[in-house]
Amino acid sequence: MQKAAVLRSLKQPYLVDHDCAVPKVLHEWEILVKSHVIGLNPIDWKAPDFGFGIPTLPYTGGRELAGRVIQASKSTSRVKEGDNVICISTDYRDLRKAAYQEYVVSSSFNTVRIPSSVPLQSAATLGVAFVAAALALGICMGVDFSHTADGPDLLELVQKYQQPFSSPGGKGGSYQLPEDIRAECLEGLGPGERALPGDWVAIWGGSSTSANLAVQLARLAGLRVVTLVDTAKHGLRLSAPHHDGGKHAHLRPDLLVDSHDPDRAVAILRASLGPRLRFALDTRGRDSAAALGRALRQEAPGDDVVKGPGLDSAPVTPRQSPRTSKVAPRAHLVGLTGLPKEPAGEDVVYHTVPIKLYHEAPEVGEALSSWLERLLETGALVPPDIIAVEQGFDGINVGLDRMRRGEISGGKAVVVLQ
Ligand SMILES: NC(=O)c1ccc[n+]([C@@H]2O[C@H](COP(=O)([O-])OP(=O)(O)OC[C@H]3O[C@@H](n4cnc5c(N)ncnc54)[C@H](OP(=O)(O)O)[C@@H]3O)[C@@H](O)[C@H]2O)c1
Repeated sequence: MQKAAVLRSLKQPYLVDHDCAVPKVLHEWEILVKSHVIGLNPIDWKAPDFGFGIPTLPYTGGRELAGRVIQASKSTSRVKEGDNVICISTDYRDLRKAAYQEYVVSSSFNTVRIPSSVPLQSAATLGVAFVAAALALGICMGVDFSHTADGPDLLELVQKYQQPFSSPGGKGGSYQLPEDIRAECLEGLGPGERALPGDWVAIWGGSSTSANLAVQLARLAGLRVVTLVDTAKHGLRLSAPHHDGGKHAHLRPDLLVDSHDPDRAVAILRASLGPRLRFALDTRGRDSAAALGRALRQEAPGDDVVKGPGLDSAPVTPRQSPRTSKVAPRAHLVGLTGLPKEPAGEDVVYHTVPIKLYHEAPEVGEALSSWLERLLETGALVPPDIIAVEQGFDGINVGLDRMRRGEISGGKAVVVLQ
């Protein structure tokens, strides 16, 4: 038996249950991990408070953790017993994989070995946000990471799922992409629309963990980044140069825009980049996603557009239709927390992140997990800051209450179990 934090009804705190069964490893690709540090995510409090994403009650919550492998089989060749690992549990319907318990089952392709240079607490901060950021950029915007620590070209990888195919070393049998993410994965981008090095991406809600990872991955892939954030809270931290005591050089954007007045932020984006801005990621909500949508649209500039000198260099994939091409590439807006109410229109495409690809498609999971290992090993990717460290299973509710109150800003809350 083991301890776990269990939700018995909606809008209630998680209760610590001392007599839960240890989850069983059922498949050859699964491992058992003893949990040491849990990373808290917004979904952990939003789901019970707003009544979504809870498939059954009682429900064990928690989507990411750092711990040690205590049972592995030969077929999980990358991950061995005794390894310190991150488990990224996007598979929220399988309670065996929930993070709020002492022992957790994880698919080996959703498990990331932690290099000795990265403390367990830091490792527990970046699982779900890494997957969300990588899929937003790699699938929804088509960024090719193959020149970034030998990362995946995710769009190319999912093309093999056009037809049902037999998945070796994974779930076995004939496998096809789930219907609800099929169009996003296979038809989200038209020919010539992929984001290329030099292209601009605007990221709204720049203080969030998913924005943090998206900024880092975009920069590593050679994109230019606009971060939109409350600059009174986060401006100096995100923009101070290293020689001036800045500890966040890896997050430094090419353009920092205050998001306090959304109309003004849109005006700055349109005046500075105009049609050169073709990609945007919102991590905040429907209203800021709508503002990004306005910035992406090819409308005639209104009075709100200030005239500036702009930039000398042309974008790599300009919105203006090249003479030889009949169709101009469209702009792409990814919403992590919601999309605008207004229709996208002809020149903008809305995207949601196909997060389940990570656990449903073993090849994609393995490609992302092994890539994260390399990014951490080489120091190319820096884990987010830790804002709060709570203790024990009771600390889960303490941390989630702090998140509800908006106290966890610009980094993560983690819970140390041992
Ligand atoms: N669709 C997906 O697959 C997917 C995957 C991952 C995340 N998400 C969603 O994306 C969003 C960002 O996730 P994250 O993990 O990156 O978030 P996070 O690191 O927790 O950051 C969220 C930011 O929101 C602000 N904030 C903090 N507490 C708040 C509260 N109680 N109410 C309103 N704002 C608050 C803070 O910014 P300021 O202090 O600057 O205001 C904080 O930096 C969440 O809504 C999450 O559910 C979706």
